[in-house]
Amino acid sequence: MDYSKLKQIAAERAVEEIKDGMIVGLGTGSTAKFATIKIAKKIKEGHLKNIYGIPTSKKTEELAAELGIPLLSLNQLFNQQPRTKNNEPRTKNQEQRTKNNEQFNIIDITIDGADEVDSELNLIKGGGGALLREKVIAQNTKRLLIVVDKTKISEKLGTNFFVPIEVLQFALESEINFLESLGAKTKIRKTETDELFITDEGNFIIDAYFGKIDNPAELSSLLNERAGVVEHGIFLNKLVDSVYYSSDNGVEIFRVS
Ligand code: 5RP
Repeated sequence: MDYSKLKQIAAERAVEEIKDGMIVGLGTGSTAKFATIKIAKKIKEGHLKNIYGIPTSKKTEELAAELGIPLLSLNQLFNQQPRTKNNEPRTKNQEQRTKNNEQFNIIDITIDGADEVDSELNLIKGGGGALLREKVIAQNTKRLLIVVDKTKISEKLGTNFFVPIEVLQFALESEINFLESLGAKTKIRKTETDELFITDEGNFIIDAYFGKIDNPAELSSLLNERAGVVEHGIFLNKLVDSVYYSSDNGVEIFRVS
């Protein structure tokens, strides 16, 4: 089976988890695109009702709007508190909020791709440059479903993919210096026409080649502490609900325990 077909079957399997009345995060990239297309089709055919999509990038927003998926921004979602089909307020007021993040998170399901998935279901994301909004949406999501084909799996992150790091334009050279001090080789992300790639939030991306990453949590904290780094593409498994992995044998689902 070709890779595009494998992406499609993983994405469409994950869409089966979406039920009427859900708020759905719409991922970015060629695999997540199959999910967005399928969601739109199900809405159009009346198989999914009262769905609102929250796009993870301007590109996905354009696609979803074109396909007729009703959309809300994250801010609108928090302000409007859209109601479930039972007419219950979707968000709980302050007193009702529990410590359980799952209840606190406002988006029911997000379906997104990944560039690499390790044996503990930690991820590298950001190959498409949308890592910042993707992580913001992920941290507001009850169940993040990651859809990948067989090429994305490796024992350790960094085996097959670099870590995309979104940095302030102002701090570009200083962040390159910092990343190289951590042992990474770096490349500034460019567009196909050789211009500097600018993210939806107006930042640059440095692609950092660390080699195999033994401790993704440690690297993630180091990057989190660094001023000038706006966000990075390591998504620890605590953000993830399940990985939908497709191969010639079909789709397997790995859940984060
Ligand atoms: C975009 C992403 C994508 O999900 C990731 O790059 C995978 O893309 P694709 O499905 O095209 O392989 O993180 O920022």
